[in-house]
Amino acid sequence: MDLPKEIFLKDYKKPDYLFDTVDLEFQLGDEKTMVTSKIAVSPGNEGTSSPLALHGCDLKLLSIKINGTELKSDKYTVDPRHLTILTPPAGVFNMEIVTEIYPQLNTSLEGLYRSTGNFCTQCEAEGFRKITYFQDRPDVMAKYTCRIEGDKTLYPVLLSNGNLIEQGDLEGGKHYALWEDPFKKPCYLFALVAGQLECREDSFVTCSGRKVTLRIWTPAQDLPKTSHAMYSLKEAMKWDEEVFGLEYDLDLFNIVVVPDFNMGAMENKSLNVFQSRLVLASPEAATDGDYAAILGVIGHEYFHNWTGNRVTCRDWFQLTLKEGLTVFRDQEFSSDLGCRTVKRIADVSKLRSYQFPQDAGPMAHPIRPLSYIKMDNFYTGLRKGAEVVRMYKTMFGASGFRKGMDLYFQRHDGQAVTCEDFYAAMCDANNAHLPNFLQWYSQAGTPTVKVTSSYDEGSQAFSLKLSQEVPPTPGQPMKEPMFIPVAVGLVDSTGKDMPLTSIYSDGMVQTLSNDGHPIFTTVLQFKKKEEEFIFNNVPERPVPSLLRGYSAPIRLDSDLTESDLYFLLANDSDEFNRWEAGQILARKLMFSLVADFQQQKTLALNTKFVDGLRAILRSTSLDKEFIAKAITLPGQGEIMDMMSIADPDAVHAVRTFIKKELAFQLKDDLLAAVTSNRSSEAYAFNHDSMARRALKNTCLAYLASLNEPDVTELALNEYKSATNMTEQFAALAALSQNPGQVREDALLDFYNKWQQDYLVVSKWFALQATSDIPGNVANVQKLLAHPAFDMRNPNKVYSLIGGFCGSPVSFHAKDGSGYKFLGEVVLQLDKINPQWHPAWCQRSLDGGDMMRPDKLLLSPAGDDHLSQWTL
Ligand code: PHE
Ligand code: ZN
Repeated sequence: MDLPKEIFLKDYKKPDYLFDTVDLEFQLGDEKTMVTSKIAVSPGNEGTSSPLALHGCDLKLLSIKINGTELKSDKYTVDPRHLTILTPPAGVFNMEIVTEIYPQLNTSLEGLYRSTGNFCTQCEAEGFRKITYFQDRPDVMAKYTCRIEGDKTLYPVLLSNGNLIEQGDLEGGKHYALWEDPFKKPCYLFALVAGQLECREDSFVTCSGRKVTLRIWTPAQDLPKTSHAMYSLKEAMKWDEEVFGLEYDLDLFNIVVVPDFNMGAMENKSLNVFQSRLVLASPEAATDGDYAAILGVIGHEYFHNWTGNRVTCRDWFQLTLKEGLTVFRDQEFSSDLGCRTVKRIADVSKLRSYQFPQDAGPMAHPIRPLSYIKMDNFYTGLRKGAEVVRMYKTMFGASGFRKGMDLYFQRHDGQAVTCEDFYAAMCDANNAHLPNFLQWYSQAGTPTVKVTSSYDEGSQAFSLKLSQEVPPTPGQPMKEPMFIPVAVGLVDSTGKDMPLTSIYSDGMVQTLSNDGHPIFTTVLQFKKKEEEFIFNNVPERPVPSLLRGYSAPIRLDSDLTESDLYFLLANDSDEFNRWEAGQILARKLMFSLVADFQQQKTLALNTKFVDGLRAILRSTSLDKEFIAKAITLPGQGEIMDMMSIADPDAVHAVRTFIKKELAFQLKDDLLAAVTSNRSSEAYAFNHDSMARRALKNTCLAYLASLNEPDVTELALNEYKSATNMTEQFAALAALSQNPGQVREDALLDFYNKWQQDYLVVSKWFALQATSDIPGNVANVQKLLAHPAFDMRNPNKVYSLIGGFCGSPVSFHAKDGSGYKFLGEVVLQLDKINPQWHPAWCQRSLDGGDMMRPDKLLLSPAGDDHLSQWTL
């Protein structure tokens, strides 16, 4: 069999041929689509005469012409993955290739496909080869035109990248549109959309006074749900100008919504494509989480216009160059529009529940992998890439980071570049050198940093000894030390930050001050296996606040005592670290209770922990969403990731125990929080109201876990009286924690209310899929046959199957039934759309737990079932 080849970073070679212009013509048809591609080719390397190999997949070749003459069949070869022109002419030449494709049969949702009747493309990473024969690699950048021809009634709207330069009617009820994109781009940014769509139109005036037309295209009935997406787009355009000086470069920006889409969205030049969930929202049918996700992803795709499109990747190994940077940019955007600490907590939690387990498992890979077979499997390391970008900002500060970005664009606009180019721009702009920093791109695994502290009263010196360990990962048994920025503050006995005056390290004393002002947080540049940093002039033994703001994506193992942690939880000026102190305490508690559970001891909750959380819950000065996060226990996946042998049942039992016990002991405070955070105002997407809802919903979930008549009544009331999906769905989720008639009735009621809205129905699937009620495998199996479920729609698959893989108990059932179920589904899905299963780990419910079967203690039956499929 002809298997796909493994491709290595070290084998990179510049293309032998360049494509200067690409003129595409599509004749869209119900049965088949004809694609004509006319390319101006020029030699990439002096005097090249090598064969020109073009990628192609599932294409029917109709003809090839070189400089206007049909190419004889002995002058080229065709195999299932290539078309090779054996002896291309020397110098510049024109090539015309005509192919036929069958979008209606394309269930992979890659290349040109149909979604609810409309035509749509998805070309990243290597989908363009399913449209026509091409050098499908990002370092081949060309200027494109695209002429689309199709039936005017069936496909009234014809869109592609760039500017519309001509359109008109044709014979036989057809019409056409001609688009021209003035910017050079790699083929993965090409897009075409055709069908029955309507648009919401608005405009944005850029900083240089140009008016840009903005259009969001959806089926007509969804137009009212696009206002939040339009707001998000305009905010993103403004933010990129203000923060990075980056202005939009065309007069038109289109967003298209499609129900069937593999990933979240796609940054095609001036024609972004989104899956419905990330555009459509109304207060009644979308939650605060959905609203926030829309803001972030609209921003993300828009920001790619500069980081990804204007400056693109030399090859797919450099994926993090555009994705890490753009994820970082969208995180910053959401922070600036909302609450920075809360956003940081959410991002770090996701890093811990998705990235850490992957980085510790069989799929671990550096953010810039060394080889790949199918690129699709590497879209899972993006968060760590964003953390790496964040470290530059931590090191150089906001203005140094901006200087680095400016230099990056100045050097590389219009180019396809590498991670080293980004590193060089950052360092050169700041006259800096970051020893061992590039290791972040090439070493997999999450570093562990150990910190021990000591205080010498006589010399008033406080010492932090740091050591680092990067664990072995598949193919990388030995690791080099990495450059780790550790942001530190010292807290005095009254809870105040001490001014930091000077620090001794590397045999040198460094005076710390910020233009004569005292500084309270400094960033230690930790770059060796072991290093000691000594703070001078420290008048009393401080409690160190380490890794403030989570300044590096590492696991921190410090010698802070429990009382230090309670002290930080109550006092740290770095709010992230207040939350973190609570999480560390919760983790310690969970581990000790897991041990008790395994030894069949009675579980008991330590009162200091309850008191600490009570104080947070009662605070009137803290942000409400922060409080909600601070009283939420670490996820089951996070705890399992930290165990040498994961024991899902024990972790689940312990987490459930703590939740109930907290609910019992804090009942009055929780009730007060629910009642005082109700609001009769109309839904608004702003931080204050979202924070209020978040706190109320978190407290309601605690209360409902008690499964007592009064709280069930309360949750039912909240469910019935809710006027927005955020509160309605939270109440439903609270009720559905406990098996029984109330749960069944509420779920049925919700379905009946919302069965017409497939996005809400997807939530309903996910809620049931992630449930920890006993015997849930059978329930999920039943839902597969539900009339609203459809194996061909990624959203539904992610909700039900992906949700199930994130479920705390049933997926890991000791009898292996959860794994067996997944194995069977994977085999089915693989035939329809192979991209789905690698992506589940990322795209199951937010906060869902990641699967780590490699670490689980399996019963023999479980082992058996696991071996039926490869992870
Ligand atoms: N590049 C897309 C984004 O940033 C993600 C994506 C990858 C979409 C591959 C489709 C295929 O959102
Ligand atoms: Zn992206």
